[in-house]
Amino acid sequence: PAPGWAIEADVVVVGSGVAGLTAALRCTAAGLRTVVVTKARLDDGSTRWAQGGIAAALGEGDTPDQHEADTLVAGAGLCDEQAVRALVTEGPDAVRRLIDTGARFDTSPETGAIELTREGGHHRRRIAHAGGDATGAEISRALVDAVRARAVDTIENALVLDLLTDAAGRTAGVTLHVMGEGQHDGVGAVHAPAVVLATGGMGQVFSATTNPAVSTGDGVALALRAGAEVSDLEFVQFHPTVLFLGPDAEGQQPLVSEAVRGEGAHLVDADGVRFMVGQHELAELAPRDIVAKGIMRRMRETGAPHMYLDARHFGAGMWATRFPTILAACRAHGIDPVTEPIPVSPAAHYASGGVRTDLRGRTTVPGLYACGEVACTGVHGANRLASNSLLEGLVFAERIADAIAEDVRGQAAAPAPHPAPRVLPLLDPALRTRVQQVMTAGAGVLRSEASLAEAAGLLDVLRTEAVAAGDPLDGAVKAAEPGVDAWETTNLLCVARVLVAAARRREETRGCHWREDHPERDDDGWRRHLVVRLSPDRT
Ligand code: SIN
Repeated sequence: PAPGWAIEADVVVVGSGVAGLTAALRCTAAGLRTVVVTKARLDDGSTRWAQGGIAAALGEGDTPDQHEADTLVAGAGLCDEQAVRALVTEGPDAVRRLIDTGARFDTSPETGAIELTREGGHHRRRIAHAGGDATGAEISRALVDAVRARAVDTIENALVLDLLTDAAGRTAGVTLHVMGEGQHDGVGAVHAPAVVLATGGMGQVFSATTNPAVSTGDGVALALRAGAEVSDLEFVQFHPTVLFLGPDAEGQQPLVSEAVRGEGAHLVDADGVRFMVGQHELAELAPRDIVAKGIMRRMRETGAPHMYLDARHFGAGMWATRFPTILAACRAHGIDPVTEPIPVSPAAHYASGGVRTDLRGRTTVPGLYACGEVACTGVHGANRLASNSLLEGLVFAERIADAIAEDVRGQAAAPAPHPAPRVLPLLDPALRTRVQQVMTAGAGVLRSEASLAEAAGLLDVLRTEAVAAGDPLDGAVKAAEPGVDAWETTNLLCVARVLVAAARRREETRGCHWREDHPERDDDGWRRHLVVRLSPDRT
């Protein structure tokens, strides 16, 4: 549908997690007219759910070099070293600026210094946390408060549909569908020469995920439709320790933070055997992909549907003060971690790939930027190091704001949007669970050519049906009504197809991409990235 209203800005930031709000605050501080649009409320999204914390070389004796070394090992040969360098060297000051913005991290009662914990792949205590295990909630609170205090324009309940470009292909803003927000209701547009995608992840492409319901790959799908390059989508990180609620559990699942292992919890099988010992020098604190594989292997060997995380030795006091969120989530599901081991299994957690950017967050479409989980800056390579994601959101959002201030300086107004409205066949929302089931069965933690080929075929069928439904001359299938559910389902299908195609092509096992039929890492053939760019008729 054609936009019914339009507002003008210098920058539109899409998404309101750590990356989006940091970018918005810094753009505002630079004097840019900034509008934040977000699909639900400002504090919905993945940031709020982050538990373990934010990694930065803040501790005595720690250095950016050591943080860099751990990040590169976890990334399994595919990190962009310059991007990692930027992350680890700018990280500590970015965290200090976040504290200045109002975020309160846990500190030692004796020294007042920030308390640091460990997580998988880190050789030392490096993770700052807040509220014990509610780090993301505190960061989100602080940033939302700051955005409100500085009166940054925000539009909530606004699903961004597509990028607007001018005749020369430069960014000219976005179209969006707003539900129930007064003057900005219905389909409208924000005209701006700079658009920052900070839409988060795509965990909902799988049946079970730690991601909230809003993580439906909207930013990657928009970028693909806009002709931007997307990279590394095959590297989906499965978090090793997600509370096991049954083999058919669907949607967002409770996370049991790596920090629980960082504080000394053991992974055991039903017989109490610590199966990670001897598999890696860091045992339970090996990089995430190695622990997830260790759990999956043990599940296969023993035929068990899950393993256990045993932290009974923490005692009731430590559980209540250090991990109150996880304790409450476990108890809400009838498990008491103080007296019994926690059943856990891997679930989809993080997209290490995304919209390809340079070191300042610029995508391949002029005026379009991306940061946070939606982006592929190169810092994560084939497997993100634990707690580097909040940090990446912070550091690269700051870089983007500085780049935009330079890029739009001297531009009189947003380029005139190209008038041609996009016509996209929307998928029936009833098919969402079908997409998720296909992805979980064929492109989950363990993949093969056979499983991926089957997934690709089934997704193609869904796509064909959607195209037929969108064709006004084809009365066989009814077109889906435009609405958030239909758009989200359409976006899920779009990213699922690209993800499966990339996973099929990468015939090796590396980082969090695990091919049963190609079990070895192949540095001669595959130490390279898979970059995808679609033509409009292929989305
Ligand atoms: C966790 O707390 O285990 C999640 C940390 C992360 O995803 O980086």
